Amino acid sequence: MIPYKLIAKKRDGGELTAAEINELIAAYLTGDFSDSQMAAFLMAAFLRGLSTSETAALTRAMTASGEVWDLSAIPGPKIDKHSTGGVGDKVSLVLAPWISACGVVVPMMSGRGLGHTGGTLDKLAAIPGFSTSLTKKRALSILKKTGVAMLAATPGVAPADRRMYALRDATGTVESIPLITASILSKKLAEGADGYVFDVKYGSGAFMPELPQAKKLAESLVNTAQAAGKKAVAVITAMDQPTGHAAGNACEVREAIDCLRTREPQDLFLITRPLAVEMLVLSGLVRSREKAVDRLEQTIDDGSAVDKLRALIKAQGGDPRVVDNPDLLPQAPYRHDVIAPKSGYIQRIDTRRSGWALVELGVGRKKVEDDVDLSAGLILEKKIGDRVKKGERIGEIMGQKRETFPLVADEITASLTIGSKKTTPLKLIHSRYDGRRWSVCH
Ligand code: URA
Repeated sequence: MIPYKLIAKKRDGGELTAAEINELIAAYLTGDFSDSQMAAFLMAAFLRGLSTSETAALTRAMTASGEVWDLSAIPGPKIDKHSTGGVGDKVSLVLAPWISACGVVVPMMSGRGLGHTGGTLDKLAAIPGFSTSLTKKRALSILKKTGVAMLAATPGVAPADRRMYALRDATGTVESIPLITASILSKKLAEGADGYVFDVKYGSGAFMPELPQAKKLAESLVNTAQAAGKKAVAVITAMDQPTGHAAGNACEVREAIDCLRTREPQDLFLITRPLAVEMLVLSGLVRSREKAVDRLEQTIDDGSAVDKLRALIKAQGGDPRVVDNPDLLPQAPYRHDVIAPKSGYIQRIDTRRSGWALVELGVGRKKVEDDVDLSAGLILEKKIGDRVKKGERIGEIMGQKRETFPLVADEITASLTIGSKKTTPLKLIHSRYDGRRWSVCH
């Protein structure tokens, strides 16, 4: 293989064969295709795009760059969910134990916060003692015993992606649908699940805020996962405002626990349940969506969903008492009210802006090596369509970095558009894609 020829082929709009893509990734791992050559290739791919077969080949090669888990010794269907992320997105914390209580094995590898979006690993870190750095052996043993594990990608998973993602970050080549697809799927496919449900967000806090782009990403994820022999479905869900009321680490764990018991906050529940239905249907454990809903509701009513959360926390070294006593979660030493700057209806929330304000508060990181403040967060009591009065308390921010409070509170209020006309938020569940067609969710 002559590296520059492959780069030039892509640069000129040619289509690489699967063999060429395999060679390219193999050479990258041995050092025969340098970082600068990879950066040039990524830019060519960004500008020219990748075909469906190129994306599938790249995904396969990136997955094969590391270990691929074999879950065949664990009985039961294995299904995972991936979310494109957002602010207050604690769906995984509710979904994983819930669906596992229904008999689906959930090997969930998650990430840390990225940019303005929160990360499941950071939220789980708020549970005292909970470890997400599991070896493959330990993860498999937890999966076998508990039916669910929530962990960080082990170092052996998709090493090509780790290096390519860092290069993309440094070269302005992150926002490419084929590259995002290959990056996400190379890690997900390494888990060895039988199927995946993709929660693709749209709206002001989403990675792809515009619906057409979100739909393109959903199609790319599902088509590529299916080309790799996996079952897959994508659901487009709303991220035009923080999901639920809490956005932070400890406070989101608290809200997720509540949701597993009380089905509140409603938007969190109404986003999580259809995703759970998709997972249950993909698993083959139920024959219809109606049966899936019945089974899911039953596990909340009989407490088995919350029992599964306790079991998961215990299996991963955490303190399961947090489920019954959330005050054991990290508590913020300082709190500060967020006040409505004018009267009217909340018409829009610039959720990305409020997510960046939360990074300032310590919920997320500005640099990879930064520590997060597990106690920091926002409780926003009002949602789009709610009426507020000037001077009224509409929520609070909390954490250790008291000096950031005035700025963060200003940013949160600046992210709200308040006007005289009542508006409605985006549809929580917009549509679903199963690899053949889109259907609208009612
Ligand atoms: N998340 C990933 O893992 N990769 C991307 O490229 C974007 C989001």
